[in-house]
Amino acid sequence: MKKIFVTKPYLPDRVAFQEKIDRIWENEHLTNQGPLLTELETELKSFLRNPYFHFVTNGTLALQLALRAFDITSGEVITAPFSYVATTSSIMWEGCRPVFVDIDPKTFCIDVNKIEAAITPQTRAIMAVHVFGYPCDVEALEDIGRRHNLKIIYDAAHAFGADYKGKSLLSYGDAATCSFHATKVFHTIEGGCVISHDEQTHKKIGLLKSFGHIGDDHFCLGINAKASEFQAAMGQCNLKDFAKIIQDRAQVSTWYDQALPLEKLQRPFHPSDFSYNYAYYPVVFETPDICKQVIANLTAENIIPRRYFYPSLNTLPYVTNADPCPVSESLAMRVLSLPFYKELDEASVIRIADIIKRSL
Ligand SMILES: Cc1ncc(COP(=O)(O)O)c(C=O)c1O
Repeated sequence: MKKIFVTKPYLPDRVAFQEKIDRIWENEHLTNQGPLLTELETELKSFLRNPYFHFVTNGTLALQLALRAFDITSGEVITAPFSYVATTSSIMWEGCRPVFVDIDPKTFCIDVNKIEAAITPQTRAIMAVHVFGYPCDVEALEDIGRRHNLKIIYDAAHAFGADYKGKSLLSYGDAATCSFHATKVFHTIEGGCVISHDEQTHKKIGLLKSFGHIGDDHFCLGINAKASEFQAAMGQCNLKDFAKIIQDRAQVSTWYDQALPLEKLQRPFHPSDFSYNYAYYPVVFETPDICKQVIANLTAENIIPRRYFYPSLNTLPYVTNADPCPVSESLAMRVLSLPFYKELDEASVIRIADIIKRSL
């Protein structure tokens, strides 16, 4: 039987994509802010209702640029341990020390009640994560940031297309970043963005992502985080299909809701006034042993779920002196992201749910 993986990248209509590629051949412009990328940026600014938007090479460089935009290259950055490794590695790559604050057991996002105890004179910023595309407590974080003069940066890698309290989840914080990696709900093969809220920061990110110079005028140390026309071509096609992608993913999510024994599983908290983007379908089991059993039983039937996120980032081998984060460590041992993509059919969802039911 054909393997079912945790995800499958969305591929747009091939003819539509070919038309975009033909334009690249006509333009003979491959990178360095080409016409397709400029068009895509305009479309994305409008989609996200924010003019201070930069498309970049990937979601990891986006995080690094967000730190650099505020000159955060030393000191401590408070962050969440339940995330993909890039959240922590970007902080460390920029020369800062990650200080882990445990997560809220209901939302899986950083526990805002534990943040203030972790603030020291060295703290420069808080990098929180909208885990699986569900919102952090954005009001409490904004309040903490204001009172302690700390920048709030959201790793919103999963949050494209999610709206909270009437605006895109990417529009909260001093800056937010997103990933447009091939596995994401909206993708450009590789790609990402940084969103800020004022002209000065926006201009600075523009310089940082492009070697720090404009023409012959050099302003600051920079890096190469530019994107190509091929990424833009994929992005233009996928943005056009985005509403349908979300609609189909919502259907798969409903099939899971109907087929799974939800009374025996924990799911992320869905607040009111929140419109989800159906980025993932995570389930949390009561014990690590049950989780392991489910993985074994699914794998035996060629179904490959993913322990996402695992391990808890405070336990990474190259992280030193991190405090224990028992809530995140326990969750990382019990969570699974189930196969979840637009084309997953109802029969496969029922089969996956049956295997899980049998394993419990
Ligand atoms: C939470 C989170 N942050 C950052 C990243 C990094 O994004 P990219 O793979 O585009 O570099 C990812 C990628 O999966 C992620 O899940």
